[in-house]
Amino acid sequence: MQPRKLKGNIMSESVKLIYGGKEYQFPIIEGTEGEKAIDISKLRRDTGLITLDSGFANTGSCTSSITFMDGEKGVLRYRGIPVEQLAEKSTFTETAYLLINGRLPKPKELTEFSILLNDNSLVHEDMRAFYENYPRSSHPMGILSSMVNALRSFYPALDNLEEEINMTVTRLLSKVRTLAAMSYKISRGHKVVYPRPDLTYCANFLNMMFDTPVRPYRIDPDVVKALDVFLILHADHEQNCSTTAVRVVGSARVNLYAAISAGIAALWGPLHGGANQAVIEMLSQIAENKNMKQVIERAKDKNDPFRLMGFGHRVYKTFDPRMKIMKKMCDTLLEKLNLSDPLLDIAVELEQIALNDDYFIDHHLYPNVDFYSGIVLRAIGIPTKMFTVMFAIGRLPGWIAQWKESIDDPNWKLNRPRQIYTGPNETGYAPIDER
Ligand code: CMC
Repeated sequence: MQPRKLKGNIMSESVKLIYGGKEYQFPIIEGTEGEKAIDISKLRRDTGLITLDSGFANTGSCTSSITFMDGEKGVLRYRGIPVEQLAEKSTFTETAYLLINGRLPKPKELTEFSILLNDNSLVHEDMRAFYENYPRSSHPMGILSSMVNALRSFYPALDNLEEEINMTVTRLLSKVRTLAAMSYKISRGHKVVYPRPDLTYCANFLNMMFDTPVRPYRIDPDVVKALDVFLILHADHEQNCSTTAVRVVGSARVNLYAAISAGIAALWGPLHGGANQAVIEMLSQIAENKNMKQVIERAKDKNDPFRLMGFGHRVYKTFDPRMKIMKKMCDTLLEKLNLSDPLLDIAVELEQIALNDDYFIDHHLYPNVDFYSGIVLRAIGIPTKMFTVMFAIGRLPGWIAQWKESIDDPNWKLNRPRQIYTGPNETGYAPIDER
């Protein structure tokens, strides 16, 4: 594999650090959208200092040509293409190709890619035994993370590295969807539905989820479109928590299945992908207890760890562009399906209260993608416990693209941060009877 040159432009300007009576200069790196960073790769070697940046809020962990976000302007682009255009015109399969291969596919390439996904959509029958032996109450994200890791044992590595990577990528994209649907069927005690070669990626997933011998699933193009949009909106989000997990774990050169499994585990958290489930649970509680004011007050209370789920974002400080598309999709879908969801009314009212409240205004807290996504998923028929699994299916091409980019990056090293130690100074070992 040819190493690609990924670093941004080195600018003529630099940053000067004065420390211990000495002056040090550090170069400025600029990305294609004008974002600038101080390159501190020689900081410790030259000065003995390290940086301390809780939550990595000021730290760029890599250069990347996959996704661009502007948190102030509410911009999100995959490989330069605005997510709004992809949501309107593309499909999830095409967007996955774009993220992983760096450009939109030509018609023949898209057909070949779809055929490959179809050919790899079955999973080893022995994997069913895993599902059947999981405790019934297990969360599907825990199961999915283990299943993806287990795929390596069922599909050992090929000798040719490039072929191995391409096969693993295809298998993951196709089988994760099958695994997710299988987990739902088995959790309900129903017969597993196999993928069908005549269906598109999203239609196939819906059919595997909802088709039963007594009630054949009727594929509705509006529902398929809604699922495509949902998955496209989640397909990548640059260096977020789960993607960072994939890159960090991948930096130890583990296999891709293990790295993706780590990403799924990270996504499960309620501050990240798990927020879509948490939003619906919060809205349901409000519906039941009629306590919207109390929820808002709790979210503002510094002594209460509760947060308004589906609100706030580390990067977006004016609005989350994904949320706007999701809200529109939510309205369109409910109208087309002639459905009304009482949780939607509660969400709209909660959003209005929060957007006019000084706390949320001062903290730049706006609804994020998860605020309305659960209502779209409910309309599609996805059970709440599966919401974060849906996010994982969507994020998969992004994780793969980011992992691929990292292993091709000549500057990508084993990820191993440092720390500032604050524990005890050297103390002697006390024998047990003297403690
Ligand atoms: N409700 C109430 N207060 C909040 C919230 C919230 N949802 N989010 C942030 N704050 C407050 C926080 O208490 C802090 O206040 P102060 O400065 O007075 O101490 C301030 O805003 C900054 O919070 P932070 O935790 O330092 O900000 P962050 O950038 O680390 O947090 C976040 C980002 C997404 C973790 C956070 O906004 C949050 O917990 N939101 C709720 C969970 C959620 O919806 N997550 C999904 C994110 S979008 C999906 C994805 O891409 O992962």
